Amino acid sequence: MDFKKIIVDNILNNTEGIAREDIESSIEIPPNFEMGDYALPCFKFAKVLRNAPNRIAEDIVTKLGSLEGFDRIENVNGYINFFVDKEIMAKSILEEVIEKKDEYGSSNMGDGKNIVIDYSSPNIAKPFHVGHLRSTVIGNSLYKIYKFLGYNPIGINHLGDWGTQFGKMICAYKKWGVDEEIEEAPIKTLQKLYVKFHDEAEKDPNLEDEGREWFKKLENGDEEAKRIWKWFIELSLEEFNRIYSLLKVKFDYYTGESFYEDKMDAAIELMKEKNVLTESEGALVVDLEEYNMPPCLIVKSDGTTIYATRDITAALYRKKEFDFEKAIYITDYAQNLHFKQWFKVIELMGYDWADDLIHAPFGRVSTEEGKLQTRKGNVILLEDLLSRSIEKVKETIESKNPELENKDEVAKMVGIGAVIFNDLSNNKIKDIVFNWDRMLSFEGETGPYLQYTAVRAKSILSRVDKKIDDIKIDYSKLLDQEAVNTIRQIGRFNEIIVDAMEKNEPSFISRYLLDLAHDFNKFYHECPILNADEDIKIARLALVNATETVLETGLGLLGIDVPEKM
Ligand code: ARG
Repeated sequence: MDFKKIIVDNILNNTEGIAREDIESSIEIPPNFEMGDYALPCFKFAKVLRNAPNRIAEDIVTKLGSLEGFDRIENVNGYINFFVDKEIMAKSILEEVIEKKDEYGSSNMGDGKNIVIDYSSPNIAKPFHVGHLRSTVIGNSLYKIYKFLGYNPIGINHLGDWGTQFGKMICAYKKWGVDEEIEEAPIKTLQKLYVKFHDEAEKDPNLEDEGREWFKKLENGDEEAKRIWKWFIELSLEEFNRIYSLLKVKFDYYTGESFYEDKMDAAIELMKEKNVLTESEGALVVDLEEYNMPPCLIVKSDGTTIYATRDITAALYRKKEFDFEKAIYITDYAQNLHFKQWFKVIELMGYDWADDLIHAPFGRVSTEEGKLQTRKGNVILLEDLLSRSIEKVKETIESKNPELENKDEVAKMVGIGAVIFNDLSNNKIKDIVFNWDRMLSFEGETGPYLQYTAVRAKSILSRVDKKIDDIKIDYSKLLDQEAVNTIRQIGRFNEIIVDAMEKNEPSFISRYLLDLAHDFNKFYHECPILNADEDIKIARLALVNATETVLETGLGLLGIDVPEKM
């Protein structure tokens, strides 16, 4: 039952001179439910209706009389407060959950439209760092959110697999590389070779030229260069895939920067045609002075292209290939300028779909000890981080619940879930800190707390042999304040998901799940379930069931699994 719609429809039928949109956008959820479930402030209408807000409100209240689904409507100083009939609310919400199960909260508003999501996108032969982890986790969650709302998300891993650095790496490999060492620990060894290249180049400037030579060879399709480069990609992907499989993250495409190699010429031609390129000291740039930005470099004076050239080419390709409704790019905010610049280039080329390009930046990740910077060396290697988390959960299980079945499986779900939730629990632009104790705690704002709440609900349900689906439920038994609050939360699920989608902010769902778990735990604490009279027990179980469904679905949208027991 859509209470808001009932309010809007009935006011429209009873008053003249106010537009539907104005009513819709004015309806508020009061900060405190003693003031009603919905409120309509009438101050905004004073001008058009040429009347005092208080009089307008009084008038509407009188005309509405009583409304189906509400047990009270009153005017308080120009605010119309609507009190929903709690039994009808419980019935309409819980019946919907029972009917839709894990589809509850979903919709088909997306109408199958394509949404391109560019996420994770680590660099070949470079460490997969916590920033990439954040991008991966946010992107994966957005993918699921869009899908749940009926869109067709397209997940692209835009690997950093092209650029002059590969010439240097090949050169370093040819000079000092040992195959066995590389196969043993690919990224670590290649990274060392790369560092060595820079150290040596400081002593011997010729090295830089050699590196450039190798990149030229690679660009010209030289067989040896290509073979080595491909090998680097293969080895790196093997490492990345270990992380993706721990996180259960998938992509529709692994089309990295090199994929656009043969498409860049055409893109540069197009930019020339559209008159956006100017020459500057032998390079081709798009002048952005008018927009208070440094020029966007497209072709360097030595003829090579850069990161931005490939992003522009990729966007043109993706628009043609997928005709996307939105294309979302998930990176650290350090890349804000980069995206602003090339989005502007697309706009200057005359494409109105420049507006559909969205950079969704996120904050930095640090440990208690300080920034996780690669150069300074205090990077927690990502795989270490994930396995440390799993290990710690395993220790907790061993000490608290040593009899548990599938300990390893559960430790994995909880350990990984904790890391994911830590990444998604705050507004994504906020910097976050890795703090093991806080992250892995079963209390407070953590993944394990939510998983534990869901598992507790499952365990209550497992102690009853009847299936909620086929029992008649007396919804008048769900009028305790704690029950009402929990049901109200459950009813907000879809609206929260839509908000999260519109703002590309999975943390809206995280915060919501924390609120729901909080309300549910109060309910659980205040309202005995298994010992209650049969009809009360059944009604309360229906609420436990609905809460469990929403917690599990919501965590699923964040990319977090819920174990059967923990
Ligand atoms: N490889 C880049 C990095 O590690 C991220 C790429 C993001 N996606 C894009 N289309 N630019 O910083």
